Amino acid sequence: MEQKTKWFAACRVEDAVENGGVSVKYGHDQIALFYFTRRNEWYATQNECPHRKQMALSRGIIGSNGDEPKVACPFHKKTFSLATGECTSGDECSIKTYPVKVENGLVYIGTEPLPHASGTRTMADQC
Ligand code: FES
Repeated sequence: MEQKTKWFAACRVEDAVENGGVSVKYGHDQIALFYFTRRNEWYATQNECPHRKQMALSRGIIGSNGDEPKVACPFHKKTFSLATGECTSGDECSIKTYPVKVENGLVYIGTEPLPHASGTRTMADQC
């Protein structure tokens, strides 16, 4: 049975950081919300980097690898796809990604993580 996504209002569009990220608290979780202005796209991922469990991805550098949007952790520069959550720097780890939508000037994050492209990786992976 398909699970219905629950959305919560994370911030107003004008409060987001252009070409960067912010950390959003949701219950006990932290979600990194990215406004990729150059691509006119929004992404959300877990904020915790799976390498050393640092709450840091929202402060990472975003960019592209071809068409693939990515974020580099500010600590040791491991990179993750913002679309799928997969580690793109060669490690066997991944991060959760969440759906994002914009309506009436508000940015909403879906609380159910998107499935990973491979469907086999979990947030608990450490690299
Ligand atoms: S803590 Fe993120 S790459 Fe090491």
